Amino acid sequence: MTFPKDFTWGVATSAYQIEGAWDQDGKGQSVWDMACRWPGKVVNMHTGDIACNHYNFYQNDTDIISQIGASAYRFSISWPRVIPNGIGKVNAQGLDFYDKLVDQLLSRNIAPWATLFHWDYPLALFRKGGWLNRDSADWFAEYTQVIVDKLSDRVSHWMTLNEPQCFIGSGHYLGSDAPCLKLPLSEGLLACHNALRSHGKSVQVIRNSAKNKPFIGWAPVGVIKYPLCEEPKHIEAARALTMSGVFKENPFWTNTWYSDPVILGQYPEDGMQAYCQHMDWYDPCDMAEINQPIDFYGVNIYNGQAITLDENDTPKLLDQPQGAPRTAFNWDITPPALRWGVKFLHDRYGLPMYVTENGMSSHDWIDCEGKVQDTQRIDYLRRYLLELKKAVADGADVRGYFQWSLLDNFEWTYGYTQRFGLVHVDYETQKRTLKQSAYWYRDVIQKNDID
Ligand code: FCB
Repeated sequence: MTFPKDFTWGVATSAYQIEGAWDQDGKGQSVWDMACRWPGKVVNMHTGDIACNHYNFYQNDTDIISQIGASAYRFSISWPRVIPNGIGKVNAQGLDFYDKLVDQLLSRNIAPWATLFHWDYPLALFRKGGWLNRDSADWFAEYTQVIVDKLSDRVSHWMTLNEPQCFIGSGHYLGSDAPCLKLPLSEGLLACHNALRSHGKSVQVIRNSAKNKPFIGWAPVGVIKYPLCEEPKHIEAARALTMSGVFKENPFWTNTWYSDPVILGQYPEDGMQAYCQHMDWYDPCDMAEINQPIDFYGVNIYNGQAITLDENDTPKLLDQPQGAPRTAFNWDITPPALRWGVKFLHDRYGLPMYVTENGMSSHDWIDCEGKVQDTQRIDYLRRYLLELKKAVADGADVRGYFQWSLLDNFEWTYGYTQRFGLVHVDYETQKRTLKQSAYWYRDVIQKNDID
């Protein structure tokens, strides 16, 4: 069995991680511009000031995407590049950049898949309270309108938010990611609620005013528990854990707390029981705003946790055995997470599925022959894609896969220490070198299958 006909094979990036040009042509600042100047937040005080300088190299980079043969490119738009203060005056030059990028992509037959928010929140709006401010949903809707007016004659594929689990959980509760807040749970939940309202309002704007019929989704993290054994009771236990709305270590690390309101129109029962005493601000009428029909479920999956049942059929979370494979980031390599994650989420929400991110970091370098022999990445991608095929065979409506990432880039608090690209970037010279995995992925795309 191969992948479905017309399967979307893409590559993904995000604005802050690749664009650089942090103050070029009137761009405003984001909370990441702030965090990078805050000692101790980002390794070695690395910043996205220059990154891959994609803002000035985008033509070259779109050529590389066509060399790889991807049919779609997932990129994000920098809100403060387009509207420096987040609301109000539009920066024509910033908006023009995305206009030109989209034209470049289309001229190479690459479908643009635009993410409206991939973490680089306008600093000026953060100073007005950011996601804690109830007006933040209107701010996001205003920004969405500007983008839709400019690009929707050519862009049809939209994603609202990337990984709310991270920018809310790590950004507003754990305090590791920008804007580096350690808020009490009630405030974290409020920020989350307003981000979900923003999603809903943004969907409405796209739906009501796009010039081309839009195909709208979002890209949350997939928090996946998968069964070690394929017996039905193990599968059901893994499914139940994957759909838990409550996690003790980090209450923001769940699927259902975000996706149930967005798709099913209510917060999950278990989460509500655990958190409602922290939600005196909650107005159930907001659900109508949050729960807007969307067309696909995008999910970012890098790994998951295996579970088993003990002799009393009680589920047990398993750590990876000693010496198990790990990426350079020290992330577990768990290919079945892709199969079961996609399947469980498809079963619950009933939407077409797209893997909007998957990939790995490794310590890649250019060898004496000028090649980057990233055999571990090839092995990783092969194993994960074989599992994705099983999800297809299981009946999940999987329509596409985006590899993270096109280029080595700025990996948030880890700076330039993690290389996730199919393409190696020499940050001193900005020279791009296709890694062996890029050629391997090109062959997968051509065959619509894996050897
Ligand atoms: C995801 C982010 C993406 C990138 C990858 C490695 O959590 O969405 O920007 O950092 O991880």
